Amino acid sequence: MSLLIVFLSTHIRLGEAGLGCSPWPDCYAQLSFADGPKGLQIPDTAFKTFRSMHRSIASILGLNILVIMLIALWFRKETSPLLPVLMFMVVLFLSILGIATPTRSLPLVTLGNILGGIVLSGLVWRQILATKDRPKKPAPFILFLVSITLTAQLISGAWASANYTGSACPELLSCTYTSNISESLLDSVNVFRRLILDSDYHLILNETSSIIQFNHRLIAVLLLIIIVAALWKVKHEYPALLKPLMVVSVIFIAEFILGIVNVLAEMPLWTNTLHNLLAVMLLFATINLTMIIHLKK
Ligand code: HEM
Repeated sequence: MSLLIVFLSTHIRLGEAGLGCSPWPDCYAQLSFADGPKGLQIPDTAFKTFRSMHRSIASILGLNILVIMLIALWFRKETSPLLPVLMFMVVLFLSILGIATPTRSLPLVTLGNILGGIVLSGLVWRQILATKDRPKKPAPFILFLVSITLTAQLISGAWASANYTGSACPELLSCTYTSNISESLLDSVNVFRRLILDSDYHLILNETSSIIQFNHRLIAVLLLIIIVAALWKVKHEYPALLKPLMVVSVIFIAEFILGIVNVLAEMPLWTNTLHNLLAVMLLFATINLTMIIHLKK
């Protein structure tokens, strides 16, 4: 259910913002009602059915997690209720965020929404894996670096999406707005930034958008280098860990290629939704890996 929520919310959010629209990239995140309430307004369109599905599944999921948390609290002497309590807190956070924020001109709110869904799925997955008792194997530091860099990449992807930056770099290695890059560096990591809208509440992209989008691509390349190095190290010195690392690597390569295809194919909506789902799969594979290793002394 949490995967379905991630799928539906990505699809609705990006679809309503016009991802994959024509003429690309000018039309992305430009939908607004001049006479509507202020902020980047998203019209009530073809995604109505998806929206109500999203709402129903989220409610059933919330109730399920509440029951799981209550059971876990009841049996707290036998087993730790930490994960179910965390899951419930994320569900609570997501529902408050959903109710309290009608517009999408605050990237921090969208960031919370995207990351909340990803974290919730990760917690559920970790809880499922925790039911298996598996011995931990010693591992090199580079595997921990893989999980830290992946976390950074998930955050940068969510930030790129929350700022609707997909259209700021319509080509793979170059961006449209590049004149005042050094002056916009700080703004690109300012989590309290607001989207800049024109008098018709249309989104204005600028250098900050280019930096945010390009950073996401740079961290992907960094992660690629780290994963290749980790594969080499594990293959030669820790062969018992090769299989779980291969799973991470294969999903990573698929995600990397999908990211490139998205840009080259002018950001079709479905492949972008898949980009987010694969990101969650990559997180699952990495959680699996980190649960069977401990740092070598
Ligand atoms: C390989 C590791 C990667 C991971 C884990 C990753 C993860 C993500 C995530 C979580 C999002 C947010 C999706 C959403 O909810 O809207 C995203 C968005 C995006 N990613 Fe990636 N990504 C990766 C690589 C790439 C690469 C290599 C490219 C391009 C060369 C790319 C281009 C994009 C674009 C254009 C967006 C959407 C921005 C928008 O919505 O305006 N990604 N990514």
